Amino acid sequence: MSDDALSNLLQENRSFPPDAAFAKRANVTAEAYADADADRLGFWAVQAQRLAWDSPWHQILDWSNAPFAKWFVGGRLNVAYNCVDRHVESGHGEQTALVFESESGDSRDITYRELQEMVSQAANALQGLGVEAGDRVAIYLPMIPEAIVAMLACARIGAPHSVVFAGFSAEALRSRIDDAQAKVVITADGQFRRGSAMPLKPAVDEAVAHTPSVDHVLVVRRTGGEVEWTGRDVWWHEVVEAASPEHHPQAFDAEHPLFILYTSGTTGKPKGILHTSGGYLTQAAWTHWAVFDLKPDEDVYWCTADIGWVTGHSYIVYGPLANRVTQVIYEGTPDTPHKGRWWEIVQKHRVTILYTAPTAIRTFMKWGEHIPDDFDLSSLRLLGSVGEPINPEAWMWYRRVIGGETCPIVDTWWQTETGAMMIAPLPGVTACKPGSAMRPLPGIGAEVVDDNGAPVDPGGGGYLVLDEPWPSMLRGIWGDDERYVQTYWSRWPGEYFAGDGAKLDDQGAIWLLGRVDDVMNVSGHRISTTEVESALVSHPAVAEAAVVGATDATTGQGIVAFVILRGTPQKDGAELVAELRDHVAHEIGPIAKPRQILVVTELPKTRSGKIMRRLLRDIAENREVGDVTTLADPTVMGLISDGLSSSAADD
Ligand code: PRX
Repeated sequence: MSDDALSNLLQENRSFPPDAAFAKRANVTAEAYADADADRLGFWAVQAQRLAWDSPWHQILDWSNAPFAKWFVGGRLNVAYNCVDRHVESGHGEQTALVFESESGDSRDITYRELQEMVSQAANALQGLGVEAGDRVAIYLPMIPEAIVAMLACARIGAPHSVVFAGFSAEALRSRIDDAQAKVVITADGQFRRGSAMPLKPAVDEAVAHTPSVDHVLVVRRTGGEVEWTGRDVWWHEVVEAASPEHHPQAFDAEHPLFILYTSGTTGKPKGILHTSGGYLTQAAWTHWAVFDLKPDEDVYWCTADIGWVTGHSYIVYGPLANRVTQVIYEGTPDTPHKGRWWEIVQKHRVTILYTAPTAIRTFMKWGEHIPDDFDLSSLRLLGSVGEPINPEAWMWYRRVIGGETCPIVDTWWQTETGAMMIAPLPGVTACKPGSAMRPLPGIGAEVVDDNGAPVDPGGGGYLVLDEPWPSMLRGIWGDDERYVQTYWSRWPGEYFAGDGAKLDDQGAIWLLGRVDDVMNVSGHRISTTEVESALVSHPAVAEAAVVGATDATTGQGIVAFVILRGTPQKDGAELVAELRDHVAHEIGPIAKPRQILVVTELPKTRSGKIMRRLLRDIAENREVGDVTTLADPTVMGLISDGLSSSAADD
């Protein structure tokens, strides 16, 4: 974040207390903070009672082997039963669970009873394909009901899923399947994107050609496009829809692995973040109920995330369904077939709670408020934000244009690793400041510390740490305990280092300032600079690459790459740059395509050979280049700027 943006933030003194009528009916009052302060573990034990347990736990938290936590030790439960069957048993089988809205505008309601049958059939089918508790299943699907059914079916049989975002490349999918040694992959023939059918299965075919662990590929027919077929492929409509709709949910240990979700770290290799069952579901369910003030008999909830990200896991699948939500899921993009698509959906389904990302809000601001103004958004009563810092201007716009000046806005800070929300307002309690996630939720310990790990005073800035274990915390990195300890727990003893910079204001509110490591945040998606650099240098024309995240008015950060070419380029500059961008999309996925690639002859390095990304960021953000005293060759920045003024590498 630039210094200007930072000082603007610090002058932000608007504050919006909860509306009295909202506060009066709110699910949670200020007592929750007091309860948790008085007995933190006891507070979480009470929240765990939101779930149905087959056997009780005998210890709330075992932290004796820190940083490897065990929550609700000895307890047993079935996560899918908690998200589906128990609602049918309590008499809500006819309640709509999912309102599926396709890109083309058809919608389909699925009740809890139907969901129970679909999940049971899928669970039976997976078992029929030889999947047993503990086996890993990769899921590579668009936002269709089968994606949610597939995840719940895995949960039901105790087979941890690894959902891979359907926008990731075959190579990204391959490495994730391989790392988790998945036995089955669930995919679709294709997906609808901006009005056309795009194939999906060819990427799976390419990936599984190199992953011997995979026995079967289970394929949902979505677009009806032609697909290649091999002996290991099976159609969803043949095996799932033919399976019995009865399935007995077996209980698993509270610490049974529920899923692995890969996320970018500071090296080129994505980390498989491991989450388990009882603690994860407790915190996902409680935060969803408390922070969104969910009223299961009244609300229509819509989280716009994709199931490929953690937000889709915790706030589309597990938290909301555990709370017996009625929710919209949407397959398409915000501007197909027109830029008012989201507002049309809010109007059509009378959505009451909307959870989205700042990058989307900024895009809508750019498109103009006359677009949402054409729709009836009066059903909305609460708005949420997640994924990146929300600038006060976007917050205010969200509140005024979408929220009709009345909806509380909950800015929720959390991560793939935290599993569920950690810092967020309680909408019936907190007076919210535009741009701040406010304070840790009840039962959560978070602090802003300086370089030495000492808490900063009000008004000070530093690093965000979590100083108490929490129920939905990651239990490790799949297959790499040491990297888990190193990455998160080695900087200051006993503190989880989140990788975010933060500032504490005079009233103790926390302002998140973005990543302080080599991880970029592009449209709320985490991408590592090293991952993009490795993709670039795997192209034969590239000798060396350095990647930075430059501030971007819409996407938060944009990817800017500096490359040194091998020998004399055979191609015209613009053509080569286009080829390199496509190459990155092929290696990682279109979301990692650099916004800009600049061809340079030198890169700024320290004497020990470390690339000085700070200086490259100055160039990428058109700033005067900062302190160059630690550069091995002080003339190099001049060479880079001179070279750039004569190269037209932008697109
Ligand atoms: O930098 C923070 C940012 O997103 C990172 C986590 O990314 P990911 O694991 O992909 O999860 C995103 C969805 C939870 C964090 O380290 N971040 C997330 N939410 C916020 C945020 N930054 C500021 N404010 C937020 N509300």
